[in-house]
Amino acid sequence: MSKDAAPSSTGPVSRRRFFRYLWSVLGLAALAELVWLAVSFLRPPRAELGDAQAAAVVAAGAVESFAAGSVTAFQQGQFYLVRLENGGFLALSCRCTHLGCTVPWVEKEQKFICPCHASVFDITGNVIAAPAPRALDLLPLAVVNNVVRVNTARRIKRSGFEAGQVTFASES
Ligand code: FES
Repeated sequence: MSKDAAPSSTGPVSRRRFFRYLWSVLGLAALAELVWLAVSFLRPPRAELGDAQAAAVVAAGAVESFAAGSVTAFQQGQFYLVRLENGGFLALSCRCTHLGCTVPWVEKEQKFICPCHASVFDITGNVIAAPAPRALDLLPLAVVNNVVRVNTARRIKRSGFEAGQVTFASES
């Protein structure tokens, strides 16, 4: 008799313990998933952290090494660093927005003149003469510790030049 009573009195207890344990494990798993989701949400996108992204940033040089009104070509990244007369910087893609030819800066003319179909751009990259349909693309830039840094991984399409596209050394 006592042998029969023992399993029936401990059965519900161990079942209760088992379910309590199961709920604890499931609760911890749900909590861990919640934490993982929160961390994933708050973490910057992978593209911002990757080595490729870091490698795509070109340290163009110290701010004072670029004279006002100058255009400097950078083979690496295929862009021009423009320092406007007001001291602000623009990084312009050297690719023509017509069919993608490389557009040289013609110092004597103070213009970018495409050798393929004669599109002409001013120092801000604005179209002066067609067939180019829009201004030269911009590359994001920042001035960090007095060094101009250009992100060659991104090209920003624009219809034309706007003052807000210019970066000044004191802004960064
Ligand atoms: S590719 Fe430059 S004008 Fe056609």
